[in-house]
Amino acid sequence: MRIVLIEGDGIGPEVTTATCEVIAAAGVTIDWVRADAGLGAAEKHGEPLPEITLDLIRKHRVALKGPCTTPVGKGFRSINVRLRKGLDLFASVRPVKTLPGVKTPYDNVDLIVVRENTEGLYAGLEHQVVPGVIESLRIITRPACERIVRYAFELARTGGRHRVTFCHKADVMRLSDGLFLECAREVADEFPFIQFEEKPIDNICLDLALDPTQYDVLVMENLFGDVISDLCAGLVGGLGVVPGANFGSRYAVFEAVHGSAPDIAGKGLANPIALIRSAAMMLDHVGERAAAARIEKAVHATLQAGIGLTRDLGGSGNMASLTAELVRHLGA
Ligand code: NAI
Repeated sequence: MRIVLIEGDGIGPEVTTATCEVIAAAGVTIDWVRADAGLGAAEKHGEPLPEITLDLIRKHRVALKGPCTTPVGKGFRSINVRLRKGLDLFASVRPVKTLPGVKTPYDNVDLIVVRENTEGLYAGLEHQVVPGVIESLRIITRPACERIVRYAFELARTGGRHRVTFCHKADVMRLSDGLFLECAREVADEFPFIQFEEKPIDNICLDLALDPTQYDVLVMENLFGDVISDLCAGLVGGLGVVPGANFGSRYAVFEAVHGSAPDIAGKGLANPIALIRSAAMMLDHVGERAAAARIEKAVHATLQAGIGLTRDLGGSGNMASLTAELVRHLGA
């Protein structure tokens, strides 16, 4: 099986190496097709997202991707935004579930954040009107709203989930979120057996802090989804453990929620579990269900045992010790 591998920047090369090791230990042989994206690619090819990388994903359909650094306020546009738009990876899916052995305020969080990945404020359409005044365009279109809400309902239906909550700010952004809400209600009508709920995003934030266990599938536009994903990661152990995937109708790119973590890059301190669990989602996607389940089981067993854990999980170990424990549990 050939799958594209993008190491990315910062902790990317470290966590992708650990992930490949764990996949091999789970007994899956992958012929990795290496491709570049990120700061490293900009230095090597003069382009942070070379066309060859997009072509390789188009050819092989599936990619595993480490995080890519985006310079703040200057330089090139976000590679992630360009990648998702370029391949029309319209649905970001981030399952957020309480993990055994990871101490958090809540015991039974089990929700999925579904984020529209191609529009909203992240359409990247900004310009200076006059010096000191910038305009950012928030693009919301009916087809994109309908397909992301339908995707969320289908995910709920196939995953045996019972409720979809649409998160919006339609009271303020009356036209853009008004249209999104209208589409959400229409699509919800197609799924009468799944409960539909609509709530302002600020209320959702309050609820997530007070009692996140009340949510099942959350669907929202791009910027809200970016923020809510990190918030939800914090409910179950942080950015080091939450996986993610970007799906389109033709391609899928699997990546953790976290970024390139420049503060710990190159120190061997990164927690590889988020990317490893993203890889488990990838294995599930390509039909390697048993291996995916074995990896998830090994992650649970490792966390439960609490040996060799990285600092973000309260341990005194590092990436190497955590990876060794995961491999050991896979062999057990
Ligand atoms: P970040 O997620 O890289 O880091 C936030 C905090 O979480 C840091 O303290 C970091 O050390 C910690 N952290 C993140 N992942 C960790 C892991 N696996 N193990 C242990 N600790 C971990 O977010 P930040 O600092 O806002 O972004 C850094 C760069 O990453 C930026 O250039 C940003 O644009 C990029 N980024 C890329 C993403 C992607 O490629 N999918 C997603 C988010 C950010």
